[in-house]
Amino acid sequence: QAFFKPISNAAAPSLTKRHAKISVIGAGNVGMAIAQTILTQDLTDELVLVDANSDKLRGEMLDLQHAAAFLPRTKIIADVDYAVTVGSDLCIVTAGARQIVGESRLNLLHRNVALFRNIIPPLAKHSPETILMIVSNPVDVLTYVAWKLSGFPSNRVVGTGTNLDSSRFRFLIADHLDVNAQDVQAYIVGEHGDSSVALWSSISVGGVPVLSFLEKQQIAYEKETLESIHKAVIDSAYEVISLKGYTSWAIGYSAAALAKSILRDQRKIHPVSVLAKGFYGVDGGDVFLSLPAQLGRGGVLGVTNVHLTDEEEQRLRDSANTILDLQGQLGL
Ligand code: NAD
Ligand code: LAC
Repeated sequence: QAFFKPISNAAAPSLTKRHAKISVIGAGNVGMAIAQTILTQDLTDELVLVDANSDKLRGEMLDLQHAAAFLPRTKIIADVDYAVTVGSDLCIVTAGARQIVGESRLNLLHRNVALFRNIIPPLAKHSPETILMIVSNPVDVLTYVAWKLSGFPSNRVVGTGTNLDSSRFRFLIADHLDVNAQDVQAYIVGEHGDSSVALWSSISVGGVPVLSFLEKQQIAYEKETLESIHKAVIDSAYEVISLKGYTSWAIGYSAAALAKSILRDQRKIHPVSVLAKGFYGVDGGDVFLSLPAQLGRGGVLGVTNVHLTDEEEQRLRDSANTILDLQGQLGL
């Protein structure tokens, strides 16, 4: 007997809104921060969690399900078997080793490539039309690995890349100028991490380009301040890891923002890791690194044509070469 008595002669529901399904692989600090941000922002109808550790996975699933009375209605399921991800619109991969204090992201490569060999093929098999979003580190090389292992077109494979570094950059500039970080536009591109490239000429506050403003006002160029802000961005994750052991909240919001742009077809521009060959003089091989890219329901829709100084282009090529050197060791 149904709990509700059905309305007689009710018209069949017209399904105007598509059912959305997001799978998050890896239910650790990062996977759960992303999952909870996705839930609170009502970005999906179905949220799937997959992890190799079945007890941890079931515990996390139950803990989120127990918040149902406070959240938008979302079906939350979890399983160690990738069959549960079937038909996902978006798969967000966070599984893998993370850095210990002082360790670089690049040092995680071989451990996490081995895991990706067991993660990406079943995801691609169960959701051949999905968009893959890679978060595990080193994110740029692993996005390349996911592209290779999935056989997907490059527009459907994206890494969270420097979306997070750019958010840290905007926060620090906003703090320095005492303005709202949402009014600061500024991009960090290239590798997510140590060889990232700050685009000084991209910085504007409320539509006012900061560098030319400072030059016109004949205020001392502040180049040193800007350089120290970029250094602080690079040091950010190391500092947080040395203090709390891992980073999670900022990447949770960063990945959820990208999920929103993709699933809601927002066509917003984000600095994310995309196949960069042919853009901005990057021509040494198939390399994924962050460039300002437009995201929508089709995944990566295009790369924007920001003006780069000669020095910025050179730094971007250096960053590409750092990543390509590592990729060369993989034999993929
Ligand atoms: P964590 O140790 O808390 O979680 C990792 C999870 O992966 C664990 O639950 C583990 O059981 C699971 N796992 C391991 N092997 C698996 C497999 N084969 N299949 C499924 N699940 C598996 O680590 P974390 O703090 O959540 O970090 C995860 C990754 O995210 C790390 O590589 C970290 O460096 C990276 N990260 C990236 C960014 C970014 O901006 N790109 C930010 C923060 C962390
Ligand atoms: C970050 C991770 C560790 O928070 O890549 O930047």
